[in-house]
Amino acid sequence: MPPPPPPLLLLLLAALAAAARPRCPLARGTTGDCHGPWAADSATCVDMPLRTCSDVAYNQTAFPTLLEHRSREAVEASSEYILLSVLHHLLEGQCNPDLRLLGCAVLAPRCEGGRVRRPCRHVCEGLREACQPAFDAIDMAWPYFLDCSRYFASVEEGCYDPLEKLREGLDVEEALPSGLPPTFLHFTHHSYAQMVRVLRRTAARCAHIAKTYSIGRSFNGKELLVIEFSARPGQHELMEPEVKLIGNIHGNEVAGREMLIYLAQYLCTEYLLGSARIQRLLNTTRIHLLPSMNPDGYEVAAAEGAGYNGWTSGRQNAQNLDLNRNFPDLTSEYYRLAESRSVRSDHIPIPQHYWWGKVAPETKAIMKWMRTTPFVLSASLHGGDLVVSYPFDFSKHPQEEKMFSPTPDEKMFKLLARAYADVHPMMMDRSENRCGGNFLKRGSIINGADWYSFTGGMSDFNYLHSNCFEITVELGCVKFPPEEALYTLWQHNKEPLLNFMETVHRGIKGVVMDKFGKPVKNARIVVKGIRHDITTAPDGDYWRLLPPGSHIVIAQAPGYSKVIKKVTIPARMKRAGRVDFILQPLGTRPKQLLLGPRRSGSGLRDPPGGASRYGEPEEPGQEPLGGRRQPSVGGSKPWWWSYFTSLSEHKPRWLLKY
Ligand SMILES: *[C@@H]1O[C@H](CO)[C@@H](O)[C@H](O)[C@H]1NC(C)=O
Ligand SMILES: *[C@@H]1O[C@H](CO)[C@@H](O)[C@H](O)[C@H]1NC(C)=O
Ligand SMILES: [Zn+2]
Repeated sequence: MPPPPPPLLLLLLAALAAAARPRCPLARGTTGDCHGPWAADSATCVDMPLRTCSDVAYNQTAFPTLLEHRSREAVEASSEYILLSVLHHLLEGQCNPDLRLLGCAVLAPRCEGGRVRRPCRHVCEGLREACQPAFDAIDMAWPYFLDCSRYFASVEEGCYDPLEKLREGLDVEEALPSGLPPTFLHFTHHSYAQMVRVLRRTAARCAHIAKTYSIGRSFNGKELLVIEFSARPGQHELMEPEVKLIGNIHGNEVAGREMLIYLAQYLCTEYLLGSARIQRLLNTTRIHLLPSMNPDGYEVAAAEGAGYNGWTSGRQNAQNLDLNRNFPDLTSEYYRLAESRSVRSDHIPIPQHYWWGKVAPETKAIMKWMRTTPFVLSASLHGGDLVVSYPFDFSKHPQEEKMFSPTPDEKMFKLLARAYADVHPMMMDRSENRCGGNFLKRGSIINGADWYSFTGGMSDFNYLHSNCFEITVELGCVKFPPEEALYTLWQHNKEPLLNFMETVHRGIKGVVMDKFGKPVKNARIVVKGIRHDITTAPDGDYWRLLPPGSHIVIAQAPGYSKVIKKVTIPARMKRAGRVDFILQPLGTRPKQLLLGPRRSGSGLRDPPGGASRYGEPEEPGQEPLGGRRQPSVGGSKPWWWSYFTSLSEHKPRWLLKY
């Protein structure tokens, strides 16, 4: 074999080749003077020698590669290969492992039966579209060797899908004992593959009321799979409130993950069997279950095994981030603003500096999910104690680790927490055999900061950034219970979960429209005495959770006069009272006056141009990511350039944008 040519020379050659004969690798039939294995009738397949590509779906490759590297050493010394090896970290888990597998398909092409096969162009194009923003965010150019038109082939040319394995991962082998009816609840722990399978099967069995979808990927590339139940799955319906239940945010707290897997099966089965209660719930509510928000952490915990699991192994995600500390700390922001009289405790924007820190892909996925769905109610399921806690989780005095720190919606949050705790037999158990007994005298509910204060929690973020009210449920003292305990856990938590979801219908809901019946989105629903406004969704619909009693409710939007109504919420209600508002335009008064009634400082908290919070393409991955690292100025290299310092001369200048 000739010695490997210097990579820089190769790059030049590649660039020249591309310029001179851009279609060469794609040419069909005769390949003329094209080089490379795609042109050869035959290649010598060798076992995959590259560590970074060891998990591709095939096991043989060939030299030279599509970039004309002639040996394993040449590939390993190349900047392309180094990029693939570190991409995961550079992009903080975004688009991975997809991008790495795509790159491997070029650097270690698939060889099969003595022929090299090329990856599909449409897969490359799809990924480029999805991942370009992640590159833009770190000021990196799209790598030349992922040029979809150059190294990839069409379906007619017999390409293969290099990401096939990722999709397969969601479609796993029979994991449940066959012969059992599909309605049979299996009280076991579920591996990732088993969980995905159960959710998919459940959605298939209840296809008219259920659907699975992914909200993104974990750092290690596992889909964050959600199962949704509603009369019309896949779409928001006017005035139908949306609930989310999230399990396993701490990877080693696994009871919630199992509860939600069982709940999905239970909802499906009971609906099919005609249970009036479940049918009513699903006919009037859109329910989203995310059994595992931290599937990577779960793997770590599960490897240690049930029962034994230590207190913290697997708590964090694969980047060692505690996801329940990783959300923007808006609570500090709220306390800071509280010093001025015009304080508002809703729709506080994410401060720019948040994006300069490490943001987990799991956290981003939740934030994006919250932006695209008008959630009203949520619960996050934990383990390690037996109690229901509610916001704020961060103490109003930073030095006080235990201090009652209520939200303006204290009454409602207590009611929500009680909806869970009051029907949980162990939370109400007065005997010696319950755990976490110190909460019993409070009815097993507690204000989060009164328990212990922390910042960056998901519940505070839900409340201060969106219309969603989230509580935290600690399901029991054992974080990773033995399998024998799961049946009892389900028996204890089934009713609390149902009862909690049903409370989404406490309060009022309705539509805000103008005099022509046109919905007004982003209108504010103000309740006198509660400094926390709710905003309308794109269809003009809103939900305002409210405790029993009389309330003065005001609807307002820029350009319209306020409408004020008095409502009375009865002590027992099963269905939200409907209160619609028709707003009259303020007429021809100048715009400044229209903005007059809005409290000072509100401009700061409104999305620019009054953009909708939901359904707009303004997703967290975009603008905020851009602010994470400062663009390089004055010729200095971007921060990630240091990853390539081991390359003495052939540094990947093609990654530099400027
Ligand atoms: C390589 O893959 C092929 C096809 O998937 C399979 O038949 C073969 O056993 C594999 N070989 C090795 C060494 O794993
Ligand atoms: C729920 O909706 C289905 C389909 O519209 C209907 O057949 C069923 O009777 C409804 N059940 C209840 C309890 O509302
Ligand atoms: Zn936890």
